[in-house]
Amino acid sequence: MPRHYITFRDLSLEDYGLLFQRSFALKEERRKGVYLRNHLKGRPVAVLFSKNSTRTRVSFECAVNELGGHAIILNLGDSQWARGEPLSHSARVFSGYVSAIVIRHGPENDLVKLSESASVPVVNALTDERHPCQVAADVFTILEKGRKIPLEKQKVCWIGDGGNMCQTWLEAAAVLGFALNVSCPEGYQPDPSISKRAMADNPEVRFLQDPLEAARGATVVTTDVFTSMGREKEAERRRKDFQGFQVNAKLMAAAAEDAIFLHCLPAHPGEEVTEEVFERHADSVFAEAENRLHVQKALLELLIPGLP
Ligand code: CP
Ligand code: NVA
Repeated sequence: MPRHYITFRDLSLEDYGLLFQRSFALKEERRKGVYLRNHLKGRPVAVLFSKNSTRTRVSFECAVNELGGHAIILNLGDSQWARGEPLSHSARVFSGYVSAIVIRHGPENDLVKLSESASVPVVNALTDERHPCQVAADVFTILEKGRKIPLEKQKVCWIGDGGNMCQTWLEAAAVLGFALNVSCPEGYQPDPSISKRAMADNPEVRFLQDPLEAARGATVVTTDVFTSMGREKEAERRRKDFQGFQVNAKLMAAAAEDAIFLHCLPAHPGEEVTEEVFERHADSVFAEAENRLHVQKALLELLIPGLP
């Protein structure tokens, strides 16, 4: 059975320990000028998109190529998938060609169906429900930039939309055991089944109505756009409903001294975060974006069988 990565929960605490250790090593190696390994020996990996992307597309292409493989980037809109070819057929077709299927697509259930018929790992590169590759890179960035506070002592604060990023942070807190305060506007709460399970697994997962209260003492503050991909028609209403949920100087002042700010990007400075907070923390935010590459290299090494 191939090992898939569809939710953050698909890896254990021990797996993440190894993943982050390996990500550090790969990052250091690249910093010293070693870009190319021959782990994949030319094996192809499909990187499929039915939504826009900058970071995910480029970081996965670099990751596969730097591991000595070959990335095949395909816009699913150009494929027979978009014309209704059964997912179970697509899964078996791709499995005959490539060593892993990395996919960004709205309904996560389609990824689950794909994985059920695939004989190679399926990696979630963002769905409407989750974005585990991003949160894995975010946690790695906390380990790197988080003032040497051990992960289990970090207090993460999520402000804003309870969508794919927030839901993945809830799963990360459940698996990795850090404290997580979540503050979402009314009507934009995460899926209750994800929240309940996270709270059952980690008593330090809390929901607070007041964003300032949620940020109190946080070592990490993070947020996402008000309007995710596919919800553009709701943008105006969301701008009104999300008033008071901006990460600004007042909110950062409630957090711990030297708290770090993370954002998965793309950001809308002036909307979910002020330009001033964003620029003050740009070093962490762009390290976070770069870390997608290092963590995804380590992830592909972990998931694709037969690699050294
Ligand atoms: N953060 C992230 O996934 O960025 P892209 O949408 O540009 O891939
Ligand atoms: N929540 C955002 C994340 C983008 C990386 C979206 O789904 O558009």
